[in-house]
Amino acid sequence: MKNKLDQAKNSTKAPSRRDFVKTGVAAGAGLLIVPSATAFGSTANSSLGLGIIGCGGRGNYDGGQFARNTDVRVTALMDLFDDRLESTRASFDKIAEEKGYAKISQTNIFKGWRSYETLVQSKDVDLVLITSPPYFHPDHLEAAVAAGKHVYLEKPVATDVHGCHRVIKAGKQANGKLSIHVGFQKRYDEGYRTTIEKIHAGEIGDIVLGQTFYYTNDLDRQNKDGMPELEARIRNWVFDKALSGDILVEQNIHIIDVVNWALKAHPVKASGICGRAMRKEVGGIPAEFLCNDHFILTYYYPNDVHISFNSNQFKNKGYRQQGERFFGTLGVSETMQSSPAKITLNKEQGIKVYEGPVNLNTGIQVKMKALVESIKSGKFENQAEQGADSTLTTILGRMAAYSGKEVTWEKMFKSDDKWNTKLKLDNLGSNSAVSMKG
Ligand SMILES: NC(=O)c1ccc[n+]([C@@H]2O[C@H](COP(=O)([O-])OP(=O)(O)OC[C@H]3O[C@@H](n4cnc5c(N)ncnc54)[C@H](O)[C@@H]3O)[C@@H](O)[C@H]2O)c1
Repeated sequence: MKNKLDQAKNSTKAPSRRDFVKTGVAAGAGLLIVPSATAFGSTANSSLGLGIIGCGGRGNYDGGQFARNTDVRVTALMDLFDDRLESTRASFDKIAEEKGYAKISQTNIFKGWRSYETLVQSKDVDLVLITSPPYFHPDHLEAAVAAGKHVYLEKPVATDVHGCHRVIKAGKQANGKLSIHVGFQKRYDEGYRTTIEKIHAGEIGDIVLGQTFYYTNDLDRQNKDGMPELEARIRNWVFDKALSGDILVEQNIHIIDVVNWALKAHPVKASGICGRAMRKEVGGIPAEFLCNDHFILTYYYPNDVHISFNSNQFKNKGYRQQGERFFGTLGVSETMQSSPAKITLNKEQGIKVYEGPVNLNTGIQVKMKALVESIKSGKFENQAEQGADSTLTTILGRMAAYSGKEVTWEKMFKSDDKWNTKLKLDNLGSNSAVSMKG
């Protein structure tokens, strides 16, 4: 790091945008202080290098959305498994070819659970996409921030209260110096955004009640016959409470985030139940860690606003519905993942006043463009605390459901909630920076 700073200082060339990034990386305490828009000068249009930590479904999807829709090139990859690295590399090399960019350099392919430490230091990485299992998110975020890199962090930001505090702290360190986006794409969708703006403008009056739900199918297993237990557990991480946080924290969080957004608050307490009605076993997942397949919760928000939340991951192929209905003193709003967003006023106020499109693929493109623009302009956006707040809201619900008792926000926030995965990642083998053949 010191060398990079010295190189930047000694350079006689006019600094490029990348030079500023490099300089910042080396700046005190490893944190980047990128100057304002003008600092980028004529190179403001040069593309940002993206390093992906966790090359699975979402790493490929988010990385593809960045590469196809923004001024971002994928320049580095990190994962635990060769097959993930190979297929992801092939896919981004294809996009690079189409766009006339260089392919990912062999020296920027990292394998091994600690190799994220090397990826974040790569001079080719300006922005880090964190799409690993949620348990690892605090480690990966802290490393990226310490290296002075901007971040797109997938939700949830962590799986326990301890991890959320770490994310809040890393967010504070990055404040005003780096952009950190968290993967809540609904916040950038036209239909969702307009509906919530109308709620905030008072169009449905005071919200008094909410009905919210996330019903979906059981998820596909990723283990194969003969696979070692450790590998099967990591590949099947979505079924593992410690690695995912359970379905409420990992998946249902999208709904809870909308509730916090609409109500501009987090709950004061929660109560609920959960269970495993149909999910009896999953390859590689120890019984103590096997995720539930349904949750039923009541969240109590300030001003006596009561929100019900139901979810499942059942083998009910075909029935999927995810959304939020808010009942206000003047009308009702309805936002669903797969149908138009609506606001309907009470009869005496008129009938339907708003209907708008919901398209989360478009929403994510808007979000990624906003993140890239924030980096290029130096008007950094930091969503770490907001992401932690929504994650903590799901953890509050989880604590209530696991204990069968009402739990207050205060009690949850001060608790020593911390998962011990009992994973021995060193047993996976190679921790070296580069392991694949070119
Ligand atoms: N915003 C959304 O709508 C959305 C949708 C899907 C997934 N996600 C989130 O994206 C993240 C990844 O989910 P996914 O569906 O891509 O899972 P996935 O299993 O398809 O991919 C995860 C990848 O991470 C790798 N990995 C495992 N342990 C790792 C470690 N310690 N370090 C680095 N890599 C590791 C795995 O090998 C795998 O390739 C999760 O946080 C998930 O909640 C968000």
